[in-house]
Amino acid sequence: MKEKIKFVLKFAKPHKWKFIIMLLSIILASITLMILPFIIGWLVDEVLNAQNMSRFIYIVRIYGAVYIFNQAMYTIVNIMEKVTSTTFLFDIRAELYSRILRFRGSCLASMYSGDTISRMGYDVDQIMTMISINLFGLVSNFINMFIALVFIYCANIWMGVFTTVSTPVIIYVSRIFFGKAKSENTRIIKRKGILSSWTFEILGGMQEIKLLHASKQILSEFLRRNIEIARMSIGLNRIEVKAERFNTGILVLAQMCMFTIAALLVKANQLTIGGVTACFAYYTNCITTFNSINSKILSLSSNMVSCDRIMELFDAPLEEEGPEHLNKHKILKRNREQIAGSIELKNVSFYYNEERNVFKDLSFRINPCEKIAIVGNSGVGKSTLVNLLCRIYDVNDGNIFVDGKDIMEYDIKYLREQIGVVHQNSVIYNGSIRFNLQFAWDKFQDDLLWEALKMVDLYDFVNSLEDGLDTIVGTGGLYFSGGQKQRIVIARAFVKNSPIMIFDESTSALDSESEMTIKKSWELLGKNHTLLIIAHRWSTIINSDRIIVFEDGKATGFGRHEELLETCGTYNKLFREQVWYSNLSKSGEII
Ligand SMILES: Nc1ncnc2c1ncn2[C@@H]1O[C@H](COP(=O)(O)OP(=O)(O)O)[C@@H](O)[C@H]1O
Ligand SMILES: [Mg+2]
Repeated sequence: MKEKIKFVLKFAKPHKWKFIIMLLSIILASITLMILPFIIGWLVDEVLNAQNMSRFIYIVRIYGAVYIFNQAMYTIVNIMEKVTSTTFLFDIRAELYSRILRFRGSCLASMYSGDTISRMGYDVDQIMTMISINLFGLVSNFINMFIALVFIYCANIWMGVFTTVSTPVIIYVSRIFFGKAKSENTRIIKRKGILSSWTFEILGGMQEIKLLHASKQILSEFLRRNIEIARMSIGLNRIEVKAERFNTGILVLAQMCMFTIAALLVKANQLTIGGVTACFAYYTNCITTFNSINSKILSLSSNMVSCDRIMELFDAPLEEEGPEHLNKHKILKRNREQIAGSIELKNVSFYYNEERNVFKDLSFRINPCEKIAIVGNSGVGKSTLVNLLCRIYDVNDGNIFVDGKDIMEYDIKYLREQIGVVHQNSVIYNGSIRFNLQFAWDKFQDDLLWEALKMVDLYDFVNSLEDGLDTIVGTGGLYFSGGQKQRIVIARAFVKNSPIMIFDESTSALDSESEMTIKKSWELLGKNHTLLIIAHRWSTIINSDRIIVFEDGKATGFGRHEELLETCGTYNKLFREQVWYSNLSKSGEII
């Protein structure tokens, strides 16, 4: 609870004046609202009972003035609430988003995108609801309650004692249902998050689902998940309805007792008719306030769940910036110089799950400006090596050195500037071709972009487009084929021009002509870049300076193609298999 308060206060602090004005207006509105029944009681005693008509206009004027002031306060509350919620929630979302961008790889892998979206949307909104409606509302409710009690006690002590005794009993009894509803609510919110994430992923893979004829299965799974949530919601609703009916029953009982006491007191001349009118109005007010306190406490419980869910995102581990980050100015100068590009792994061990090591004691060294091919069966850890080099994940044991310096000692942003990676499924963003090419980088000259497009054989294509580099691609824009997308992503890496470039199966979606163009570009780049090429096609692999063969978490071969054919059994086997397969294809037996 303490952490939650600290967390909310941290974000609320810059907006404290807005919150203070809002709270003061709420307090004034509550006080003025509670004066109105007293004026009515006064009116009854003065005008109706004592037949003092001259006081009528006077009392009505006071009533009007108090009412107008009350409405003015509520107007200020409404305006301040809108203004504060917009800016306050914006701050939380902005901070949250910037943190998500710095999440560790392990965190990103276990994150459901739909759930995260619902945390950033619904749950963040709930923080404002918690402050303005529930917490400030509770303050207003307690003020109402306090003023009502003072008035009732002043009118008659027995009426006061009855109200004071009956209210906490009612609150205590109604709290029995409180804990149960809270835990059920948490479960439902979690399930809803998982469902929206699942739906999000399904929508992304619609085309594949159609091709697999899986629409029926997907629909039934969708219904199953929704029915499960609906059942849970009905269960929660049942608990809430039971709580509500139970509370109403107790309240009606209490009201009847109040009526009886009032009747006896009027008969004994201990209470005026005006006093009874005011007391009933205040008692009714106590009841509605009590109901409101109850529902606010209930909804605070779901606000707390939302708060927990946001704090979970804030607690997720972030990537360390590296020691240099602490001393930015000095380092910045040095960072500007690019590294030469050597990579060395020393006894590296790594696992995603403790049960299975991906790498065990992996060691090898790559010289600057070498062109290295990495081969191995699927799932052997080729992409994992890329993740470790870029520090998406950190090694469990051993060290990775880039230019002789442990990568843990680099500023992480600097390290990633030195390594350009193209994945098989890299993303094209909704935006212009220019945006997609220089994405996340400072302004580049257009001629550099055109040069990069030439290197991936897209120059003529983009040049023929009416808007050239400004052509919008992605949703609602130009639709690129898989191969074109891949080439744009490769061009993006060329534009980034890092000293180390990694291509992780990035040419597998290309036709052989485009692949030839990329291979030529690699020849050019290889002169002053370290290239790591993860590929399956032997035409791509055999021209490398050296080839690393991965097997069972180790590098079982490292050398030139001819050497490895002789010395590395795995490499020999992989090569023979593919030659056999391509011969078979050529002879027409399989295609
Ligand atoms: N984010 C992850 N969480 C858990 N296991 C993973 C993750 N990514 C990959 N793996 C596992 O690690 C192993 C190596 O994967 P990967 O490096 O992608 O193989 P490759 O690129 O050689 O095909 C595989 O067994 C894979 O299932
Ligand atoms: Mg891979």
